[in-house]
This record gives sequence, structure tokens and C-alpha cells, in this order.
Amino acid sequence: MTANPPDSLSPFLDRVICGDNCETLAAMPAESVDLVVTSPPYDDLRTYGGHSWDFDGVARELTRVLKPGGVIVWVVNDATVNGSETGTSMKQALGFMDSGLRLHDTMIWEKVNVVPSVAVMQSRYEQCWEYMFVLSKGKPKTCNHIREPKTYMDTRKTHQGHRKANGEFGELKVSQRTDKILRNLWRIKTGGGHAGDATCHDHPAVFPERLAKDHVATWSNPGDVVLDPFAGSGTTLKAAKELGRRFVGIEINPEYVEICHRRIAQEVLNLFPENNIAT
Ligand SMILES: C[S@@+](CC[C@H](N)C(=O)[O-])C[C@H]1O[C@@H](n2cnc3c(N)ncnc32)[C@H](O)[C@@H]1O
Repeated sequence: MTANPPDSLSPFLDRVICGDNCETLAAMPAESVDLVVTSPPYDDLRTYGGHSWDFDGVARELTRVLKPGGVIVWVVNDATVNGSETGTSMKQALGFMDSGLRLHDTMIWEKVNVVPSVAVMQSRYEQCWEYMFVLSKGKPKTCNHIREPKTYMDTRKTHQGHRKANGEFGELKVSQRTDKILRNLWRIKTGGGHAGDATCHDHPAVFPERLAKDHVATWSNPGDVVLDPFAGSGTTLKAAKELGRRFVGIEINPEYVEICHRRIAQEVLNLFPENNIAT
């Protein structure tokens, strides 16, 4: 069951705070957040108005505000500088481990609609994915697996994976289910929003809504508190609201805070009224 958020979190709940994330996080109570789904500026690939941020401070504060069993989904990639990837993404994952979190899973977002770029001419294969590091404070307290329909190949009888230690095939077990749990490589198109949601197009790096929604649905339950400390256009906050979670957004650029407000204010066709929350 989901415990009520502490009273000291009330000034932040279901709001987008315009400010520096490290300073804002420092004012939030410890162990008050169930899930963080976020994406920081990648190296200096985009400037977002020239604002800076402090990885060590953000990692320390996120670790502090996370509840035991809480999860951080950190979506990130590297710049290529002088022909070499910077390795910043991996350094950040290791930095979170140094701050006391576990690296629960290294998930991959495959961008299925990437178009060929100049990189291919520079003796590389096309870059078509990003890291989704799943970090947790101890064992994750929630994991609601996302399922997808089985394909023809899934339903074919196969011995693959059923070999015993001596090399012989074990007894064949075939599930009668027509769906299966997703693997940790998620194939999702880039581009934010969906038809009819033009409000997010003023931000240069919007999450796909499905990516945010599937992580919110997996790692939290209705009523839980979901935080995005690099809120951008508010994709995570919108997903949290639509799935009946409470949310906290932090964004330093006032123009992007406006986009968040517009997107969160959009009416949601709610097929699951039992998940409703007051906002
Ligand atoms: C990659 S974008 C996030 C996009 C977001 N996931 C979305 O779907 O729209 C990173 C955001 O972090 C914000 N940002 C940069 N430094 C910040 C800081 N110190 N505090 C809060 N936000 C910051 C930028 O303005 C930018 O909007």
C-alpha cells in the first residue's frame, strides 16, 4: 500500500518549481520520493539557455530524497569529442553507485526512427540508442512489468534455453499466455507528444510519452510521488498525472516551466477513475 507523502512535501506536490534542481532538492524532505524519471543535459550537446548543473550535488540530493526501495531512471547519452565518446553516461552511473545506490539494470532505448547522419561517413555505425540506467535504493519496492503480445516466433515450440547442465534438453514448458514481459531494450520512436499535443514542440529534447509512461507504470503505483528534476517540457510529470501518481517537477528555464504548465493542464481522458488524484 502507498503511504501518504510527508506534510513537508506539500509545498512541492503536483507543482513545477522554477529553479536550480540542487537547491530545490535540498529543501525537500528526505525519503519522500518513490520514483525519479529524468534526463539531464547530455554533456554540452544542447545549452537549454546556458544553465549549468552539478552532477555530484544532484546525485547526492536525489539519493537523499529517494525512499528506501525507490528507483531513479536516468536517461542519458555521450557527446563525441575529438572522435571519442566522452564516457560521461557511464561515469554518472558509477557516481550514483558511489552515492549509495545500486545499478539495478542498464536498459537501452532503441530509437527506431533514427535517420542516417554524417556519423556513418566517419567510420562509425549509426548511433541509434540511449542508456536508461535504472538505479535503486536497495531492492526496488515496485516492479509492475509491462507486457506485449507474443509474436509468431514466441509461440513456436523451441528447446532454446532449456538445456540442463549436462547439455541434454530438459522437459519443454510452453506458457499458454498470449503476451510476454518486455525485455530491457525498449524500441520506441523519438519525438515528444502525440497527435493533438503541439505544446511540447518548443522544447528541443522531449521524451517520447511512451518511454515516460512505461517507466512510471513499472516502478511506481497510483498515489506514489514521481519526481523529474530536469523537467524540460514536463513529459514525466504529464505521464505521472495521467497514471494517477503525484508529481514534483523542477526546471530552471522559465519558458520551459510554461510549457510544463500547459501540458499538465491538458484534460486527460481517464479510463481508470479509481486512479484519480486531486491536483
Ligand atoms: C534533456 S532536457 C529534459 C527534457 C525532458 N525529459 C522532456 O521530456 O521535455 C534537460 C532540462 O534540464 C534543464 N536544466 C538544466 N540545468 C538545470 C538545473 N540546474 N536545474 C533545473 N533544470 C535544469 C534544462 O533547461 C532542460 O530543459
